[in-house]
This record gives sequence, structure tokens and C-alpha cells, in this order.
Amino acid sequence: MPHHSRQAHHAPVTITWYGHSAFAIRSPGGVTVLVDPWLDNPKAPPDALARAQADVILVTHGHGDHFGNTVELAKRTGAHVFAIYEISVYLQSQGVQNVHGLNKSGTGSFRGLHFTMTHAEHSGGLEPGGPIISGGDPAGFVIRLENGQAIYHAGDTGVFGDMQLIGHLYKPQIVMLPIGGAYTMGPLEAAYACKMLKPQHIIGMHYGTFPALSGTPDQLKSYLPPPMRKRVHELVPGIAVEF
Ligand code: NI
Ligand code: MN
Repeated sequence: MPHHSRQAHHAPVTITWYGHSAFAIRSPGGVTVLVDPWLDNPKAPPDALARAQADVILVTHGHGDHFGNTVELAKRTGAHVFAIYEISVYLQSQGVQNVHGLNKSGTGSFRGLHFTMTHAEHSGGLEPGGPIISGGDPAGFVIRLENGQAIYHAGDTGVFGDMQLIGHLYKPQIVMLPIGGAYTMGPLEAAYACKMLKPQHIIGMHYGTFPALSGTPDQLKSYLPPPMRKRVHELVPGIAVEF
């Protein structure tokens, strides 16, 4: 077996949280995926936006705290952007190249990675400044890597019963779930989501950015069955973690 393919097979996935719902996922094959790149959020490292690289950008919905710096980053990096159809049309109107429209249960692909759009229980307007315009439905993504590993980024959502379907169909080993409450589910609901999804690794997001997003990873653990508590990872913004 060629050495490079052994390396790719055994290489880990590296995940960096930038605060809020923004993540960089570096695949075993070296593809960098940015999800919801609001990289100048209050918890992000000061140089996050300036230093960010991306091959792919995934936008879960139009709200400014998720759409974030997508236009600037896409233009600077040339990344391929995947978003729901309405947002894809908006991005093209802003001069972004390499835009791919999707809708729920649809899948886009890039260099051996696959991005499947999932349901989310939320709202999805775009906030270009002034009145909100339609950004289509909000969504989440299941990201499947070259090695078959699956990651579920739920976007902004409440808990919903079809998370069990997402668990059955895609078997995500890693899940990123909002836990802050107020605009999304909080720790109680996120713990129930974990029972449906049955992941190996649980990453809380969309908490602590503002006082209103008051849910915490410790609260999430308190609602989980004891065997699942050690699966919760509390990431530090800007620090890469291998899985
Ligand atoms: Ni939102
Ligand atoms: Mn949000």
C-alpha cells in the first residue's frame, strides 16, 4: 500500500472551534471545511478571520451569527460554498464564485467529502443590513469524510424527533449541538438529542457568546446518562483538537 494512502487512512480529523457555531474541520485528506464562519464573534481569537483558510464553506442559515464572514472569506480563499438554494442565489448576487445550492436531504461533494443538508427547527432570514430578506429554511449538515467518518453540525435548532433518523441514516460519530438556549435548544433538549443520535463525541456550541446564551457543557452533562457524560468535549476557541 502506498505510504501516502496509509497516512491518509490513519490521519485524524482536526476540529477547531472559533466560538459560537463556527468550526474549522481539517479532514484526514487535508481538506479544510469552515462551518458557519462568523470569525469575528466575541469569543473568536482576534486573528481568526485574518488567518482563516478554507476549501469549503458550509452555511447552515442566513442569520448573521452563522452567515458571518462568508462573502469575504469565499472571495479571499476561493472556497466552494454550500448553502440552501435561497442563500446560494444571494451569494451569487454578492459576486461569490463556486456556490452550490442544496436543499434538505440533498448532498454536495468536494474532493471525497460529502455534505448532506438536514432539517433544523429554527428560522432562516438573511440580515444584509436593513430589513431581513428570505434566506430559505434553516438547516444543518452531515459531513462525511474520506474515511467514512460522519460529523453532524446541527446549525441552530430545537430538538426534533427526526434527529433519530439522522442518527440511523448517517451514524455521526461527532455531533456539534447548540446548547445556549434562548434562540436554540438548551442543555436539556440537547441531551435528549444525544440520546437519539448516539454519538461518540459531543461538542456543545452556540453558548457563552452573549449572556442570553446561558447553557453550559456542565449542564449538558448533568442531563446525560452517566456513560455519555465523558463523551462531551469542551473546546477552547482557536485550539485545534484531533478526533
Ligand atoms: Ni439563527
Ligand atoms: Mn444563531
